[in-house]
Amino acid sequence: MNQSEYLKIIKLAKTAVNEYKNWGEEEIVTEQLVQPKKQEPSLKPSKNIEQDKNAEQLLEELKKKVVNCQKCGLGATRLNAVFGSGSPYADIMFVGEGPGFQEDHKGQPFIGRAGDLLTKIIEAMHYTRETVYIANIVKCHPMKDSSNPELRSNDRPPTPQEMAACQPYLDEQIKIINPKVIITLGASSTRALLKTEDLMSNLRGKFQEYNGIKLMPTYHPAALLRNPNLKKDVWQDMKKVMAFIGKKA
Ligand code: SF4
Ligand code: URA
Repeated sequence: MNQSEYLKIIKLAKTAVNEYKNWGEEEIVTEQLVQPKKQEPSLKPSKNIEQDKNAEQLLEELKKKVVNCQKCGLGATRLNAVFGSGSPYADIMFVGEGPGFQEDHKGQPFIGRAGDLLTKIIEAMHYTRETVYIANIVKCHPMKDSSNPELRSNDRPPTPQEMAACQPYLDEQIKIINPKVIITLGASSTRALLKTEDLMSNLRGKFQEYNGIKLMPTYHPAALLRNPNLKKDVWQDMKKVMAFIGKKA
């Protein structure tokens, strides 16, 4: 069997195996064998260069405000503010809860175990971390024991007051990036943006709107680590987003 036949068979087998991705190591390896990951163009052709430059600059200016922010108590105890990362021209913006231990140490969103799973989800959608945008509802690490940022397992959800203090920064990021879809990950960001107390099991998978932009709530990747059965639900939700954007699964 020559290499191209081999690759064809792998591809067929992969298609036949299952409908949803399990984001496991084997699948990622197979995917890389079949086709090297295509880099998405980082500029949206629909926007002109002037606007694009503007988005980068505006995000940089906003970031300066965030790294100096003391609008809530989390500012006093953070090691690093976690502004967000990715493309200023992203189609999709993922919004999580808030930085954890690793994110606080490195200043980057979603870089721990949950972050690794989010990366796999993004890649299964044929994007990369660089072509989407990743942010959180609060930019500084909420800790159970705020005196000890070196303690692991010290994370807690942000309070409603902390979220309310920080949300204007997220609103500004959304305005600058103007994504086609916002994907809220888990209850904190979903409830904060949609102003609801409803359960994720009711909210997930149904398009909503936030400031005129389509919003898809889905489970947080940390929830998928605790309960892998939820992966198929998240993949269904992501397929709806891809269909809305016009991207093939
Ligand atoms: Fe400011 Fe947000 Fe950090 Fe609070 S969490 S200090 S509002 S950047
Ligand atoms: N969980 C979140 O909600 N956000 C992060 O950045 C990391 C973990």
